[in-house]
Amino acid sequence: MGKRHEKAAPVGTERIEFGEPRRYLVNVDSVSTSQLFADCVIVGAGLAGLRAALEVAGRHNGAANRPAARSRDPNVILVCKGTLADSNTWKAQGGIASVLSQDDTFEAHIADTLRTGGGLCDRDVVERVVRQGPDLIGQLLQWGTAFDLVDGRIDATLEGGHSHARILHAHGDETGRAIAQALINRVKSTPNIKIIENFFTVDLLTDQDNRCAGIIGHDAQRGLQIIWAANTVLATGGAGQLYRETTNPSGATADGVAMAYRAGAVLRDMEFVQFHPTTLYVAGASRALITETLRGEGALLLDIKGRRFMKEYDDAGELAPRDVVSRAILAQMRKTESTHVYLDVRHLDKEYFARRFPLISDLCESFDIDVSHDLIPVRPSAHYLIGGVKTDHVGRTNIENLYACGEVASTGLHGANRLGSNSLLEGLVFGTLAGQAIAQTDTVEAHGLKHRLIKYEVPHSDRSRLDAADVRNSLRSLMWRNVGITRKAQPLAEAQEIIRFWQRYVMDKIFDGPHGWECQNMLTVSMLLAHAAQLRQESRGVHYRMDCVKTDDEHFRKHIEIIQGA
Ligand code: FUM
Repeated sequence: MGKRHEKAAPVGTERIEFGEPRRYLVNVDSVSTSQLFADCVIVGAGLAGLRAALEVAGRHNGAANRPAARSRDPNVILVCKGTLADSNTWKAQGGIASVLSQDDTFEAHIADTLRTGGGLCDRDVVERVVRQGPDLIGQLLQWGTAFDLVDGRIDATLEGGHSHARILHAHGDETGRAIAQALINRVKSTPNIKIIENFFTVDLLTDQDNRCAGIIGHDAQRGLQIIWAANTVLATGGAGQLYRETTNPSGATADGVAMAYRAGAVLRDMEFVQFHPTTLYVAGASRALITETLRGEGALLLDIKGRRFMKEYDDAGELAPRDVVSRAILAQMRKTESTHVYLDVRHLDKEYFARRFPLISDLCESFDIDVSHDLIPVRPSAHYLIGGVKTDHVGRTNIENLYACGEVASTGLHGANRLGSNSLLEGLVFGTLAGQAIAQTDTVEAHGLKHRLIKYEVPHSDRSRLDAADVRNSLRSLMWRNVGITRKAQPLAEAQEIIRFWQRYVMDKIFDGPHGWECQNMLTVSMLLAHAAQLRQESRGVHYRMDCVKTDDEHFRKHIEIIQGA
């Protein structure tokens, strides 16, 4: 199977158009809007964005990789829509996958990634990411990420689909935070990186030759602002908020994918959304991730009647791949007519548990769940957007001067199904590669952006106004019901019909704040996702069609690419 899937089949492109295609969500007038200039603007402050910023700024390698012609340090602006701590990276628990132990091999990690990816991984990308892992992890260690150690060596644990224990973690289940904090400290002490928090990027600016010239965004203090840049990096993270149930922070509203689409970027594999099997389920409370490494360390899944059930669905039991576990939980919930199942950690040593999983211990305690006596109620929820903005092997998109890395990107690493903890590794490697590529390019002066004019007016509309907050909530429920873990033609078609209706009344408006723009982005990306899910009439990886349960290599061993129609 691994061999058969080593090379991806040729890629097809499908153009879709919907509603009234809008180039920008706001009126753009580059003459009257306040402006900043940068050699590189980076949108997003997760692992990929932070790592790219350091590489472009030359903080990692001094002047060694800079073109000889450059007379000054590159100036980098890093913007994020919330604070530096609001990223998905910050929330990552389980860890980062990399081959560090003696009995593991690159070949095994590559084979696990390809097998899980269901025939759609790009083998060259998989090789590159896996092989660069250990060096870049070593660098994180030097920069202050305190990975957990056992007998002086970095500890590693198991997650579903990995043949070896290679999930590295820090401060127990606070891995993302530990990595992000080390990078943030380094970015903050780099004089040529300027950080702007609470800056909502509305759109990418493109010129008449479709080159990216920077961004237009909304600064909480100054209002609309243009940042002209020789290069732009999208590192905006994911799209979990498209779904009612999600592990993602409130900012994961697919903004990067939507703005790239409006600017003419090619999107790929949008139908592939990964659902995490175990999210804490307490009715009325917001959902919270319960890391898969818990199962890697022996936690069991029980149904509402207290019975173990995973072996009925897969020989690997609790450590089957995530899509299998998510569907099994859903089936068992239906069978037992319940809203959730349970994680059982009662047999694990209480003190060890508290030390190894401090975040989850605190979380459970806050809901009066004593993990040494009580079961932890869980259910699946949307976790990771596998598809995204298509890039090449260093993060370049089809739009000149625009790069994408991290969850917003589709690099070819994950194929149709992401192996747990491969995404932090991907962000680390592609943030570095994109940064290295940009460090070789021109300064903002060389692009002559000072004299560039962009003017755009949103066409007038008299249509009624819908309440954006209402639409957003209804959209999230619709996506959960109709475009969720299991899918079928009829509900997918209905979802598109309903979204199209909302789009008519929301996409024609000009909003003046993030909530409205987020709603517009969510509608755009939900539509693309539902459309791609309908086109893929087979089951592959995380995309499961109840009306076409087989994998159809003859017709669908291909990527679905989407680009904005004319
Ligand atoms: O379960 C987890 O800790 C999630 C890890 C991941 O999504 O990579």
